Amino acid sequence: MRYSDVDLNRKTILITGGAGFIGSNLAFYFQEHYPDAHVVVLDLFRSNLTLSNGNLKSFGHFKNLLGFRGEVISGDINDKQLLDTLKKQYRFDYIFHEAAISDTTALEQDLMIQTNVNAFKDLLDIAVAHGANMIYASSGATYGDAPSPQRVGREAPQNVYGFSKLMMDHLARQYSQKHTNISIVGLRYFNVYGPREFFKNKTASMVVQFGHQLLSGKNPRLFEGSDKIVRDFIYVEDIVQANVLAMHPRESGVFNVGTGKARSFQAIVDILQRELGTSLPCEYIPNPFIGRYQFHTEADIQSTRDVLGYAPRFELEEGIAAYVSEIKRLFEEEVR
Ligand SMILES: NC(=O)c1ccc[n+]([C@@H]2O[C@H](COP(=O)([O-])OP(=O)(O)OC[C@H]3O[C@@H](n4cnc5c(N)ncnc54)[C@H](O)[C@@H]3O)[C@@H](O)[C@H]2O)c1
Repeated sequence: MRYSDVDLNRKTILITGGAGFIGSNLAFYFQEHYPDAHVVVLDLFRSNLTLSNGNLKSFGHFKNLLGFRGEVISGDINDKQLLDTLKKQYRFDYIFHEAAISDTTALEQDLMIQTNVNAFKDLLDIAVAHGANMIYASSGATYGDAPSPQRVGREAPQNVYGFSKLMMDHLARQYSQKHTNISIVGLRYFNVYGPREFFKNKTASMVVQFGHQLLSGKNPRLFEGSDKIVRDFIYVEDIVQANVLAMHPRESGVFNVGTGKARSFQAIVDILQRELGTSLPCEYIPNPFIGRYQFHTEADIQSTRDVLGYAPRFELEEGIAAYVSEIKRLFEEEVR
């Protein structure tokens, strides 16, 4: 579905992190709806480098871009020389900034701040120089375990990832006050699930992870009390919608992107079992993350509705129903 009447053909669009989950979904949105737009993907792609928690340092995967006909650049947003070259050689109309250490459990504070916050400043400078509107990924993790509904202005990050995203939001506000030639919109995504997340491995959503547990005949393993651990789960198609609407906002700012409804991890398993025709018994294990875990998230999306015109289209049941054939394909082609 197309979310804007603005003609973007012949525009140049940079998507950082475009080989990742959300960035690649954006790349295909523009390719499908604006075949004459020049879409440039910049991503570090994966190597064998890992963080101290054992997860990959960057999750970008070529398979997320199979069928993409735009330009692909492998590079690091921390590389100032590369950003300088991009600044000189291109003239971007829009920048979608998705590249980040997206792993909320990463412990490397130095790399997190450098990649998520400091490199963002360099990208903001390119946006200002090019007159490009900036749309960047903030996160529901800025709220930590703050009470629901989470509202912009009431942040309490519990980890360095959430902190880094909050610092991005502060930086963005400073830039929007100083530079009125462009709009800058931060989107605080809540828990995103959907196609092209699989290559995030263990950091992919529990929707695909439970789906594959069920398809392999294993009992789904949930944390104890999972009927009461609730999150605002949001289908990636609605994330694309919010990004597209944020290209021409009524005003710059930071906005929540969720459904506005809290659903439990138990509900994910129950819906998946219905969709997949399974009835495996659940196993409940102690939650090792107590103290640094979000137990109740529910985005207040009023300002997102008012300022961006955003209206989520997928409740959890609909998102999982739209996703389930892809979960099965991945299981056949990548898991088995
Ligand atoms: N998926 C979610 O639930 C969620 C929730 C809130 C916020 N976010 C944010 O949304 C954005 C996209 O997340 P995602 O889920 O698609 O994760 P992802 O890990 O799939 O995408 C991030 C991409 O950035 C790339 N990258 C990492 N470091 C880089 C660097 N130094 N230079 C260039 N590229 C680099 C990775 O290779 C990867 O392709 C991130 O900023 C993330 O923090 C995601």
